[in-house]
Amino acid sequence: MIPPVIVTHPLAQIHLTTIRSTDTPCGQFRWHLHRLAEILFMEATRGLGTETVRIQTPLTETEGVALARPIVLVPILRAGLGLQEAILPLVPEATVAHVGIARDEETALPVPYYAKLPAILPEADVFLLDPMLATGGSACSAVTQLKAAGATRITLICVVSCPPGLQAFADQHPDVPVVTAAVDEGLNERCYIVPGLGDAGDRCFGT
Ligand code: PRP
Ligand code: URA
Repeated sequence: MIPPVIVTHPLAQIHLTTIRSTDTPCGQFRWHLHRLAEILFMEATRGLGTETVRIQTPLTETEGVALARPIVLVPILRAGLGLQEAILPLVPEATVAHVGIARDEETALPVPYYAKLPAILPEADVFLLDPMLATGGSACSAVTQLKAAGATRITLICVVSCPPGLQAFADQHPDVPVVTAAVDEGLNERCYIVPGLGDAGDRCFGT
């Protein structure tokens, strides 16, 4: 298994600590989640392809860089929206492709219910966004859908992961790198990440 990229930057870990805490109300949860998403995205895009462009400054002509490929952000509904809202302003030209997957509360199996995928997936750098990688079922299902639609360069950005989720994801999609702020201990009997942060969607949207 390719090990995940764990973002240990102190600010990332401070934001993570805040969103883990039950003392953090919804508005603050969202604010710190957004700041953490920005840091994770900077790390996830470290190797992004660029191409040289010639530009004119007010003084002279010089070389600069532009993105080599389009970027597609793919939030898994709902909680992935909490990452996408923060990341889109960093790459305002990005396309946003929504994938709806709900975990069955009894079985913890993913139930896909929506997908709106753009035609540019085959040539794009694709970032799949979901705060939680628990059993890995939702992320695996989303990547399977993205690959079926032609995506070849996919990175998963998640805030909290755990060994069973990482293993299941690597087993199905060994070519997809994972960027995360934490690899937690594991899952409880309801397949929630421990210590985790609870239900990311509920905490992000106040439901
Ligand atoms: C949560 C989370 C992931 C999934 C992770 O979503 O945002 O999508 O569970 O669990 P897994 O790795 O075991 O699949 P949920 O289905 O609760 O939906 P929500 O975002 O609407 O709250
Ligand atoms: N989904 C969440 O939101 N949190 C978990 O810990 C597991 C799945």
